[in-house]
Amino acid sequence: MIDLAEIGQGQSGYALLAAQLQALLAGERDFIANSAQFAAFLFHELEALNWAGLYLNRNEELLLGPFQGKVACVRIPFGRGVCGAAASSRQTQRVDDVHAFPGHIACDAASSSELVVPLVKDGRLIAVLDLDSPRPGRFTAEDQAGIERLAQIFLAASDC
Ligand code: SME
Repeated sequence: MIDLAEIGQGQSGYALLAAQLQALLAGERDFIANSAQFAAFLFHELEALNWAGLYLNRNEELLLGPFQGKVACVRIPFGRGVCGAAASSRQTQRVDDVHAFPGHIACDAASSSELVVPLVKDGRLIAVLDLDSPRPGRFTAEDQAGIERLAQIFLAASDC
């Protein structure tokens, strides 16, 4: 296995992660199993994360799904916090300083920056992907593009 730490997470790093994720999910289409694998994959392959997981869309409310990290809040209304903003706007939220984000929900006091990607398939919001980091400004525009690509691979590989 190639050591990802030596490559970093520039464009070539995300290309490699995309190929690895395709291989990881090949042969299984169950949404929950693939969500659990996806969360674990991101948590362990991306540097400086303290939480990675999904919140599932349940009738316009977000419900905690498979994740890695400390225990988290279970239900988040659309429009609340960074996850709720991503769900209601269907736009990726890239927040350099969560403490400056109105309504941010602090599940883990260690979190400083956050990236939340809405997972939309055939016009339906399936879930949001939430990544937290203890490092302020952890997520660059390049990270956002790379992680959005990984999210598309996950959606295409899973029944939902
Ligand atoms: N910080 C998120 C809540 C989820 S936890 O980070 C796992 C938010 O403001 O929506």
